[in-house]
Amino acid sequence: MRFSLFTSLAMFTLGLAASLGFDYTDEYAHIGNNTYHYLRAEPASTKKYAGTALLVHGWPDMAYGWHNQISLLTSLGYRVIAPNMLGYGQSSRPAALEPYTHENLANDLSQILQTVLKDGEKGIVVGHDWGAAIVWSLVVRHSQLFKAVINLSVPFFTPAPEYVDLADAIEAGQRTFQRYMLQFRQPGMENRFQGAEKYRHMLRAIYEGTTVDGQSGINNTNGFNFDVLDHMQVAPFLPQNMEDIYVREMTSQSDLPVGLFNYYRTAKLDWEDDIAWQNNGGSWQIDIPSLFVCGKKDQFVPCQSAQGMERNFKDLQKFEIDSGHWIQIEAHDKLNEIIRYWIGSLKCHKQ
Ligand SMILES: *[C@@H]1O[C@H](CO)[C@@H](O)[C@H](O)[C@H]1NC(C)=O
Ligand SMILES: *[C@@H]1O[C@H](CO)[C@@H](O)[C@H](O)[C@H]1NC(C)=O
Repeated sequence: MRFSLFTSLAMFTLGLAASLGFDYTDEYAHIGNNTYHYLRAEPASTKKYAGTALLVHGWPDMAYGWHNQISLLTSLGYRVIAPNMLGYGQSSRPAALEPYTHENLANDLSQILQTVLKDGEKGIVVGHDWGAAIVWSLVVRHSQLFKAVINLSVPFFTPAPEYVDLADAIEAGQRTFQRYMLQFRQPGMENRFQGAEKYRHMLRAIYEGTTVDGQSGINNTNGFNFDVLDHMQVAPFLPQNMEDIYVREMTSQSDLPVGLFNYYRTAKLDWEDDIAWQNNGGSWQIDIPSLFVCGKKDQFVPCQSAQGMERNFKDLQKFEIDSGHWIQIEAHDKLNEIIRYWIGSLKCHKQ
């Protein structure tokens, strides 16, 4: 069953490469109980091999959302590995919470990366949104695999000494910009997005689509507005062709996005993992060159939330750019310019 599903999807994806503007192969990694589907793109043949870059998408993006950066990186001589994370597309969709903890996802990614790195080679890793949070876990726990890290939107902080549930924090007037997560983490949220049409409407809301009269389908206070969700128009940051790809891939295995909202439900498990890591002598210090880019108009992860993150870094560069949450799509020219400049500057570092 699974084999035939993958075969038919592989045929369908042949046409995808052309519409996304870069060549890639679909590959699958079996890790523990799960399968990850990832895109693999090879460096331009005219370029000297520069290294491997791992791109970790956020919520509810997919590997295809990196298309502008994949083109840039292959043109700079990089091999690119862009997985669809658990819960997305052709990758596994476990219903349990544990597979989605940052530590478990980071461990999975380290294994995917190791299947492609040459002996002793170190990679570059880029994360956006939840992908950035997972990248943080990955870089501290598997530092030997990396020479540089780029994070978009989500800043890095060490765990608080006591766990504070989001509901309590908001009650106390903190983290109010994350209030929407109280809705996202509710049991059964997946059921509200069953089937291609509902899923399409969700994507439209998140990529900043509106109704004809300009109402948005989501905000950071209340989360989704189910009264208007079915009336979303195509979103500015997810054009129709991309939307079709996302919907088709997401409904390929099941018409329920099983596990998708688990990304909003692991906070306590992640905190426990981090405290355990710390108690076992794990370090939070990041010594490799790090780039952090945030969008000045991002209502879900405002740039101010990154204040003070420098303290755990030896070599961090921060950029605030004129963009909302979907930096890699909305401000792709500016972001690519920063990445190109910053990757160029890496050559000056002693590795
Ligand atoms: C894999 O699944 C089995 C059976 O559900 C479970 O007992 C085991 O813990 C899982 N392994 C991992 C690594 O999650
Ligand atoms: C957020 O959306 C809700 C509807 O879901 C609406 O009632 C509320 O006014 C909106 N809040 C802001 C700050 O726009």
